Amino acid sequence: MCGIIGYAGAKQAAPILLKGLETLEYRGYDSAGMAVMSDGVINIQKCRGRLAALAEKTDHGQSMQGSVGIGHTRWATHGEPSDKNSHPHFSQNEQFAVVHNGIIENYQELKERLERYGYTFQSETDTEVIAHLVEYCDCGDLIRTVSKVLQRIEGSYALGVLSTREPECLVAVRKDSPLVVCRDDEAGYIASDIPALLPYSRDMYLMEDNEIVALTPGKINFYNIDARPIEKEIYHVDWDVSAAEKGGYEHFMLKEIYEQPQALQSTIQSRIRGDRIQFDGIDYTSSWVEQLTGVHIIACGSAYHAGLVGRYMIETTLQRPVNVEIASEFRYRNPIVDERQLVIAVSQSGETADTLAALREAKRRGARTLAIVNVVGSSLAREAHDVIYTWAGPEISVATTKGYTTQLLALELVAVYLGQQSGRLSQSAADALIEAICAVPELAQSALVDIAPIQQMAARHFNAKDVFYIGRGIDYASSQEASLKLKEISYIHSEGIAAGELKHGTISLIEDGSLVIGLLTQPKLREKVISNLAEVKTRGATVIAVTSMEDAKLNALADEVILIPETNPLLIPVLSVIPLQLFAYYISVYNGRDVDKPRNLAKSVTVE
Ligand code: AGP
Ligand code: GLU
Repeated sequence: MCGIIGYAGAKQAAPILLKGLETLEYRGYDSAGMAVMSDGVINIQKCRGRLAALAEKTDHGQSMQGSVGIGHTRWATHGEPSDKNSHPHFSQNEQFAVVHNGIIENYQELKERLERYGYTFQSETDTEVIAHLVEYCDCGDLIRTVSKVLQRIEGSYALGVLSTREPECLVAVRKDSPLVVCRDDEAGYIASDIPALLPYSRDMYLMEDNEIVALTPGKINFYNIDARPIEKEIYHVDWDVSAAEKGGYEHFMLKEIYEQPQALQSTIQSRIRGDRIQFDGIDYTSSWVEQLTGVHIIACGSAYHAGLVGRYMIETTLQRPVNVEIASEFRYRNPIVDERQLVIAVSQSGETADTLAALREAKRRGARTLAIVNVVGSSLAREAHDVIYTWAGPEISVATTKGYTTQLLALELVAVYLGQQSGRLSQSAADALIEAICAVPELAQSALVDIAPIQQMAARHFNAKDVFYIGRGIDYASSQEASLKLKEISYIHSEGIAAGELKHGTISLIEDGSLVIGLLTQPKLREKVISNLAEVKTRGATVIAVTSMEDAKLNALADEVILIPETNPLLIPVLSVIPLQLFAYYISVYNGRDVDKPRNLAKSVTVE
């Protein structure tokens, strides 16, 4: 989901491509490359690592002569970061080169078919399928050829394509992954986002899904998916570069909160196959799953909170005990783990030292280990026996949002998979869960439609001194994540408490004006939490209720109610956290905090 740059003009392309890729560096990447047309031959230079390595390899672009080219920074999803998996990718006949942002969902079947037709693959990526497909579909006109390719591929993509048959032309297309276009007096440009093009123009064309653009040194032409010409409006950009890097959002955290529906869709895609869940590269046999005596989930911070939710998901389907443990505790307590247990390590970065150490401890004791991570090729991904990527895309803000919610959805996918493999989850129950999973991205979108009430709520409570989040069952897990979000970015003390525990001590802290936020999303526990809220209310607390089930009784009790969409109780944590992420975000902003880089915190805690 990272960066694409394209240029077709009168100047040397490579230095311009490098400069554009540098403006996209903030998005996070693991490798980079360029393809430049030179005397009718495509020259590709690419490598794993930072852009500086590519610049050095190409003498800052000077060694790549030519005035039409495409550049790419890769955020790996299929095939770990390496020179050969970097983009651009050649077609077999090296007459075409392709760069891609996104995920090709049906790449496996296309790859098998192309191999049967005699195509050989140089990389492990899904993208290379497109390069060979362009050659396979080649009809002598690059725009029509690309149109034919688009009829065959499924998934998310922004593509840049070069052809030796049309050396002056660069064709690009988008679906779900962003692409913008602009031109100046002498050239046309494409990029994954606006900051990279601001040096050339503030008048841009924002590509819509299934639109194709063809750049030549003097012209820009747009087409629909059927290669029919279309007209596009110019969008004038009045943002500064900093705002543009955040897609117009004030902070990366807000941008990433809004990216959650798309990220959740990416997590699901290609893993629901008919009425079953399947993961590429994972094949736990029914007999092995059936003999499992239990599951451990090990993680830190928000990933640990995801594990607390995952416990309910997996115990419901696998019907075996799930122990969820903070990795820094697990690693030192001489844990009882053996080969009849599955240990799931959850981590956005895949580099958290405590989680890595806990995973190694679990492996040493004979357990099968599964990593659920976002960063492809990270240490955790490489050291675990098996890996499931959340495909949330780069997460820049220190406070995780889409990283967390995609972990929840990945854990639910694992829960259904284990339930089905063990034979303990009926097909009807699996169907119901799969249907609920598929609806989550759209429900997450609906939770982001009207956020004004949350902003206003944050404005009323931004100077709170102590904030208590309470819940029971799966809501207790969500309470802990909501509390962490608030304290880590606003520096306001907060606790996530089991509502049933209040009377065992914490209620002594409740006094006039204490802010208590109650989560009531679990039907069977709702009345109990309402009673707990009544207890704090009588002691002077201000009460905010988060629920999908509003009623007169709750409205009478709560000072404010945050309504969330209805869904399966096991999946509600994906939705209930969204308004609470926004609540924490706006309180942090109103307190003038450094939202994306809170004091004392790092995005990845690679030390003990
Ligand atoms: C979450 O907002 C924090 N940034 C932190 O708790 C984080 O979840 C924790 O450090 C674990 O990181 P990981 O997911 O990369 O392993
Ligand atoms: N899925 C492609 C890959 O893994 C593209 C990833 C990206 O968006 O950078 O190479």
